[in-house]
Amino acid sequence: MYKKCLITAFEELKADYFVLMIEDSALAQVSEPGQFFNLSCSDGDIPRLKKPISIYDVDGSEIAFMIKKVGKGTEYLSKLKVGDSIDVLGPLGNPFPLVSGKSVLMVSGGVGYPPLVYLKKKLEDCEVISIHGGRSYDDIFLCDYPFTEDGSYGRKGLVTAHLEKIIKKHKIEVIYTCGPDSMMKAIGRKALELNIDCYLSLEEYMACGIGACYGCAVKVKADNEQGYIYKRVCKDGPVFEVKELWMEDK
Ligand SMILES: Cc1cc2nc3c(=O)[nH]c(=O)nc-3n(C[C@H](O)[C@H](O)[C@H](O)COP(=O)(O)OP(=O)(O)OC[C@H]3O[C@@H](n4cnc5c(N)ncnc54)[C@H](O)[C@@H]3O)c2cc1C
Ligand code: FES
Repeated sequence: MYKKCLITAFEELKADYFVLMIEDSALAQVSEPGQFFNLSCSDGDIPRLKKPISIYDVDGSEIAFMIKKVGKGTEYLSKLKVGDSIDVLGPLGNPFPLVSGKSVLMVSGGVGYPPLVYLKKKLEDCEVISIHGGRSYDDIFLCDYPFTEDGSYGRKGLVTAHLEKIIKKHKIEVIYTCGPDSMMKAIGRKALELNIDCYLSLEEYMACGIGACYGCAVKVKADNEQGYIYKRVCKDGPVFEVKELWMEDK
């Protein structure tokens, strides 16, 4: 659904991260964890593709996005102010399936963090353990096991380093993950090896964001000669179960 929404809150977090909140009760009611919005990053003077941003939280009629400034589009968003309006398209994509009464592990890297925050809020009767990793302290937000590549906070290294140990320690039954492709593939392989349900939210580059261009296509297992078909992350995902994904590179 295309809408023009009012920005009701803007909060700078550390380094290049910020939170933007919009208000629309109809959109808030149908916004589920794992879905995303395409946010307009142009005031009309400079044409620019809308940027996909996950839902970070829903509070009443407000929807929050946690965003990292990385290029021109997100820089535009970082300059918006309370009282400005923004064109949005969404909620888009399929949400995470929700489980209850399970021991759950959430693993995020970089801007894979926001959708898991909203997911955690929606899980009922679950013990949730979270691992989050980033390049340095600036990329780290609240979690049980922080990892940084440069060792400036938490454990030094990748989030996958102690994965099996953490899974076994907390008797994990379900994994949700969002972050860089290589990180999610490593987590997906470990989940398959240990026979644990695992849902990945893919952050593929997007062009149209509405299923029209196949610019975000990924391989999904299929019962045909080549063993796979292409599905669109924006329309058929972004959430996929690890068992359905075709993972060829080691
Ligand atoms: C489904 C989905 C949900 C997302 N949710 C969030 C979110 O909640 N918060 C958030 O901050 N970002 C999120 N992103 C990433 C965000 O869309 C990009 O950072 C944004 O489009 C960059 O736009 P830009 O114009 O600022 O930078 P660009 O000029 O487009 O890119 C700047 C740099 O970032 C890299 N980059 C851009 N997009 C991606 C990508 N998808 N994957 C890897 N590298 C990329 C480019 O290679 C370039 O180096 C999400 C992406 C997807 C597909
Ligand atoms: S971005 Fe065009 S089909 Fe997904």
